[in-house]
Amino acid sequence: VAARLGGRPLVLVGMMGAGKTTVGRRLANRLGRQFIDSDEEIERAAQMTIPEIFEQRGEGEFRAGEMRVIARLLKESDIVLATGGGAFVNPDTRALVKSEAVSIWLKADLDVLFERVSRRSNRPLLKTADPRGTLEKLIADRYPLYEQADITVISRDVPQDNVAGDVIVALL
Ligand code: S3P
Repeated sequence: VAARLGGRPLVLVGMMGAGKTTVGRRLANRLGRQFIDSDEEIERAAQMTIPEIFEQRGEGEFRAGEMRVIARLLKESDIVLATGGGAFVNPDTRALVKSEAVSIWLKADLDVLFERVSRRSNRPLLKTADPRGTLEKLIADRYPLYEQADITVISRDVPQDNVAGDVIVALL
């Protein structure tokens, strides 16, 4: 796998709750690569949490900053990068990821996603009266875009280490 990738970044895309951070960490471990989470990098650079950025600056500025942070991170080789759920939805960010990296969509169904996001409520987009309905709508809008990733791996409700193994097999 290492030889085939030739140092190109591996980028995980997909919905909130798909397991990008957890699977990304395991994947990086197994491949001996550095793991980076774009949401964490944005929070560090902005010295604000993501909910604070949405509240104080709005989603538009968040997306622009997200794109700049990802562009900078993609200059590193041998990394595994987990991105926020909206990153690959943004056409500019998607084009950048497509040209600079190998993209992997972690695909999960509504039940799995809803169960996982319900455990942590730090997602500004889901602060609505009907978070499950919101998630369902985001799925409908975003799946056709996530489909453009180089590789799709199903993120089932199994130990996330198995999902990392599935990604490695898909990369063979
Ligand atoms: C978002 C997903 C979040 C975070 C922000 C917006 C989205 O990341 O970037 O709340 O648009 O789906 P996770 O996918 O890591 O939760």
